[in-house]
Amino acid sequence: MFTIITGAQFGDEGKGKIVDLISDNYDLVVRFQGGDNAGHTVKVGDIVYKLHLIPSGFLLDSRVLIGPGTVLNPLSLAQELEMLAKGGIHIGPEKLGIDAKTSIIMPYHIELDGLKESSRSEKIGTTKKGIGFAYIDKVARDEIRLADLTDKAKFLARIGELASQKESSIRELGGDPSVVMDSKSIDLYVSLGQKFAPYVTDVSLEINKALEEGKNVLAEGAQGTHLDVTHGTQKFVTSSSTIAGSACANLGVGPTKVDNVLGIVKAYITRVGEGPLPTELKDDVGKQLQQVGREFGTTTGRARRCGWFDMPLVKKAVFLNGYTELALTKLDVLSDIDPLKVCVGYELDGKFMDYPPELTGDLARCVPIFEELPGWSNDLTNVRQFSDLPDAARRYVAYLEEKTGIPIEYISVGPGREQTFRK
Ligand code: GDP
Ligand code: IMO
Ligand code: MG
Repeated sequence: MFTIITGAQFGDEGKGKIVDLISDNYDLVVRFQGGDNAGHTVKVGDIVYKLHLIPSGFLLDSRVLIGPGTVLNPLSLAQELEMLAKGGIHIGPEKLGIDAKTSIIMPYHIELDGLKESSRSEKIGTTKKGIGFAYIDKVARDEIRLADLTDKAKFLARIGELASQKESSIRELGGDPSVVMDSKSIDLYVSLGQKFAPYVTDVSLEINKALEEGKNVLAEGAQGTHLDVTHGTQKFVTSSSTIAGSACANLGVGPTKVDNVLGIVKAYITRVGEGPLPTELKDDVGKQLQQVGREFGTTTGRARRCGWFDMPLVKKAVFLNGYTELALTKLDVLSDIDPLKVCVGYELDGKFMDYPPELTGDLARCVPIFEELPGWSNDLTNVRQFSDLPDAARRYVAYLEEKTGIPIEYISVGPGREQTFRK
């Protein structure tokens, strides 16, 4: 069985939590795009794991893989492994595999990301992790791959080839070009190459073999549908394709192998960084969602903007991903808000539309049209089955299910593993 999970909104929908929850059914859990711009949270008991690169299925028996379509900061991965090791979880090459062709994020990518962002009059609000610049180099065929990093001579030769180009790019943006050939960071990268050499694998081969043997594979998306580099709200997007089809292309698995596509959707909407968010709440309700939902970025700590559930954006996500099922997270955060509003369409230039306009500039001008639903005041965090939810919460779920047209299979009422039930 091959299942793909993606975020249906602007990221941070709770993908990490759901991947952890269902990963005991999977032999392989694989990241297929993005890099350490992602922050996926897994909470088990009192322990909270904030993961940027290691797939969220690492706690159970599954083997976890990082695919060739990702961009990898080796220092960030080493720190993540160290953090887990401190907690007694040792992840060796038998548990984690990284594709030989994975693009490496170099210090100059991070430098360029920061410089470029500061030079923009209209900001994107990137995570400044060098993601966009690492993907630029991949497409320009100027990347350094994991296979190059693990071979010291090749790595040094590659940096030598690229140095003057990178130095002049940094200079052009007013930065300090010495970061490119900084001997300390080159030595560090060489040592990281040695560290990760035993982890190198062919991810496409591992996955296809596993599927041939009847095993189960879970592809874990990062970011969210509307941050997709092609179909998202450009230019306020990330630099990879975040939708379900991207898993096939980036992992080298044929689309005929896909069995399920699970969309993770928050019971409201959040966005971190710039770009339109038609249902954004700048009032006390927005503040309540932010405080109760602890809506602060897992990677950058920035406050996430919060708004009412936006059905047109989720409908678009249903189209772009071909969801077969949904998981609804953070339903508990809506307690004590009455009435609840759901955006069912927009008004744009005097016309009603129930699907987002294609262009970002038009989306930014959309005025949301809401339907109201009754709220509830009960605390939901101890609810363990659908039938124990208050009537109004059940109605809210049923309403979203009907309007999206996709079955909501999982409902989450808290960050913990046990705070999830099937409908
Ligand atoms: P991801 O990037 O999609 O994996 O999501 P993040 O981990 O960045 O953000 C989701 C946040 O919400 C994390 O802090 C989770 O622990 C938390 N969370 C997940 N599901 C729920 C839920 O149902 N209720 C509440 N209150 N918190 C949740
Ligand atoms: P997870 O996987 C939410 C946003 C950034 C910025 C834009 C581009 O945790 O859901 P980038 O650094 O990728 O070039 O930034 O994308 N962004 C995310 N927002 N969740 C994420 O990941 C994100 N990864 C990137 O805030 O607006
Ligand atoms: Mg996140």
